[in-house]
Amino acid sequence: MPSIFFFSDQSIGGDDKQNMMKTTYFDHAASSWPKPPQVAQAVGKWVEDNGANPGRGSHRLAMDASRIIYDCRWNLADLLGVKNPLDIAFTANATMALNMALSGYLREGDHVISTELEHNSVRRPLEWLKRTRGVEVTYVPADRKGNIDLTALADAFRKNTRLAAVSHGSNVLGSILQVGEIGEMCRKKGVRLLVDAAQTAGALPIDVEKMNIDLLAFPGHKGLLGLQGTGGLYISPEIDLEPFMYGGTGGFSEETGQPDVRPDRYEAGTLNTPGIAGLNEGVKVVLQEGTEAIHRREWELSQLLMEGLMQVEGLELLGPSLGEARTGTVSFLLPKMDPSEMGMILDKSYGIAVRTGLHCSPLSHQTAGTLGSGAVRASIGFSTTRDEVVYVIQAVQEIARTYRD
Ligand code: ALA
Repeated sequence: MPSIFFFSDQSIGGDDKQNMMKTTYFDHAASSWPKPPQVAQAVGKWVEDNGANPGRGSHRLAMDASRIIYDCRWNLADLLGVKNPLDIAFTANATMALNMALSGYLREGDHVISTELEHNSVRRPLEWLKRTRGVEVTYVPADRKGNIDLTALADAFRKNTRLAAVSHGSNVLGSILQVGEIGEMCRKKGVRLLVDAAQTAGALPIDVEKMNIDLLAFPGHKGLLGLQGTGGLYISPEIDLEPFMYGGTGGFSEETGQPDVRPDRYEAGTLNTPGIAGLNEGVKVVLQEGTEAIHRREWELSQLLMEGLMQVEGLELLGPSLGEARTGTVSFLLPKMDPSEMGMILDKSYGIAVRTGLHCSPLSHQTAGTLGSGAVRASIGFSTTRDEVVYVIQAVQEIARTYRD
C-alpha cells in the first residue's frame, strides 16, 4: 500500500505547475491518451505506404492490408483467451459491438438479466429492444459502492432468460464485477453471457474461455491504446448471431445473403485498416507488459489518489473503499460544489482533464445517490504517472481550500 500523504497549505506553483499544465490527462475511462508512440507510427506508415482495401484484390498492397488485420486479430485473440481469432469481428467501437450482440441475439419475448451499473451503450439498446421486440429486462441492483448482489442475480433467472448482459467494470464507480462467477451461473442455467469490457479490455486480465463469456464487446481506444473508431466483438462459435449490417465482404460475392463464414459474416464494408494498424501496436504493448502488471500499477495509483483526496475536508469518494479491488476510475464530489465547476477549474487553472456529469450512465449515478449532481471522474490509465496523481491531489486540495475560504 502507498504511504499516507501529507499536503501542506502551500499553493502549487513554479516549474511543477508549468510542466503539468501542459498535459495532465485523467480521462482514460473515456479514451486513453497519450498513446504509445508506435501506435501513431503504425498509422502514419500505413497511410504513407499503403491505402489499399483489405480482402478486396490480390495485389501486393491489398494483401499487406489484409496481413495487418490478420495480425491484429491474432494478437487480440492471444490477449483475450480466444481460441479461434476468426471469432473476433472488428467494429467501430464498443457501442457498435454491444448493439450487434444484443440486436443479433435477442428475439421476441426473451428475458435478459442486466445490472444497475450499465452504461447507456447497454441500457439504451435494451430499452429499444423492450419497446420493439417485447424483450423483458431485469436490472439487478448494485449497492452504493458498485457491488452487484449475486444472490439477486441468481434469483433473476426465468424460464425465458436467454442472456445476461453485464459490464466488467463500472465506468462511474470503478467497481469490478465478478464476471467469472456470473459466467458460471449462466453456464449452469444454459444462458449466454455478454460482457461489456469498455473499461477493462487491456486493463484487467480477461479470458473468455475461463470466464464463460459468450460475447465480449471491447473498444480499441481505451485500455487497448488504439485509436478512436476501433473496437470489436468476440462471438462464441456456439452462437449464430444475426448480422447487424449487410453488404460487401470481399469474398462470396455471388451469394445474395451475408456469408456464413467468419469474420466476413460480421464485417460488411471496408474496415478501418489504419485504425487497426494502430490498434495492433497498442495490443502488442499491452501483451508485452501484461494485463496483471498494468492492473497492479493502475490500482496502486488509484489508492494513492484516493488517499490524497480523502484528506480534503468533506470530499466524498464514490465506489469501492481504499484497499478494495477497483479499476483506475476514481469519482468524487465536494459538498456544495458543482462537479462541472470543479472540472472547469481543474481544466482552466491546472490543465487537468477529468470528466464530469453523468458519464452516460444514469443508472450508476442513481445507485450511488448522485443522479442529481453527477460527479467528478478522474480516471487513471496506462500512461499515468505518480507525479501526475500527486499534482491532481494538490490541485483538488487547493481548489477545496479556496472554495471553502
Ligand atoms: N463511456 C465512456 C466514458 O465513460 C465514453 O466516458
